[in-house]
Amino acid sequence: MPDTGSESNVAADARTSPSAVWRLLESMKGEELAAWRIADVPGRASAEERNLTEPFPMGWYSVGYSDELAVGEVKPLRYLGKELVMWRGEDGGAHVLDAYCRHLGAHMGHGGKVHGNNLECPFHAWRYDGTGAVKDIPYAKIIPPQAKRADCVPSWHTMERNGMIWIWYHPKGTAPLWEGDVFPEVGSEGWTSLKKFQWRVFNSVKNMHDNGVDVAHFLYVHRTAAFPESDIEFDGHRFKATARAKLGTPKGMVEGAIVSNGTSPGQGCVRFLGISETLLLSSVTPVDKDELHVRFAFTQPQKEADGPMGGLARALIRDICKQLDQDKIIWDRLRYEPKPLLCDGDGPIPMAREHYNQFLSDEEFERLKGKKRTVSTRPKVADAS
Ligand code: FES
Ligand SMILES: [Fe+2]
Repeated sequence: MPDTGSESNVAADARTSPSAVWRLLESMKGEELAAWRIADVPGRASAEERNLTEPFPMGWYSVGYSDELAVGEVKPLRYLGKELVMWRGEDGGAHVLDAYCRHLGAHMGHGGKVHGNNLECPFHAWRYDGTGAVKDIPYAKIIPPQAKRADCVPSWHTMERNGMIWIWYHPKGTAPLWEGDVFPEVGSEGWTSLKKFQWRVFNSVKNMHDNGVDVAHFLYVHRTAAFPESDIEFDGHRFKATARAKLGTPKGMVEGAIVSNGTSPGQGCVRFLGISETLLLSSVTPVDKDELHVRFAFTQPQKEADGPMGGLARALIRDICKQLDQDKIIWDRLRYEPKPLLCDGDGPIPMAREHYNQFLSDEEFERLKGKKRTVSTRPKVADAS
């Protein structure tokens, strides 16, 4: 259908009135689309040119799904600008260490193996526990005292919640300041198993955090029929947004609500109400300063997914993923604007940025802002940093 560009046309059929980014996506489906989502984007400007050099914010970050790490399995990872190794011991516990062995530097994610609950380096078989301490060197009589200490190889706090494995990041190594929420729907009888999708997005957590309150882009990038009305609440490290919008569906326009809950910049849960009940677990994990690994995992009531409205339930998931595809085209090349020029319809972007600052340490805050933190600019959660 040709886009006349008129407002009435937008309101009449939001799904078929293409925005500029939709045209780039129109031809892709299935495996081609899945491959596009994780492909490199060559020729993009450098992290420095796009102001993507800020520190990673503290919080929990997803490093994979629980059912994709079997007992005895070892995986190499790259997140938060570091090479990492993850394994699951015989007791079922998942562990993550920096990848390089302190002996002679082997990358333990490639060829390392599980021995009991410990990780054995592939080079000379030194064995590390989950704290990063060497527990055994099969060919030596004495373990060097330094190697016996926790964090001989730096270790990461891990948590398994809602079918995902998470690691805790804090710029100063402070232990976790909060726990992740539990969503009882995940893995429950009567709810579908997680449907998983992933993207590489070439940008920063900070820019994605802004996007949660950027109400104006919904019309121009996603073609919702009108700007959504949103109630936005910031509470300590938590963020909650309730957006009401008319949503385009194969059966016409319906009133919908989207309730987003974030517990830190990398961790979110979105409930979609009004079309087909859906729980979306979203996670955003920095790979490097200018690259993110985004995961979306959906669960829906089995009755709705398998029933006569199953087509609608699947279409909703497709549409949500399509929105991320649309955002990705913008984000992959977006520059961070430290002092954006804003107008009255933009949504509370300055408030979102203020909220984000609590995930920086005092030192990072002062370096970036050029001023000391005061009580009012240090929300609750940073007190302990
Ligand atoms: S490099 Fe790891 S045991 Fe030697
Ligand atoms: Fe978006």
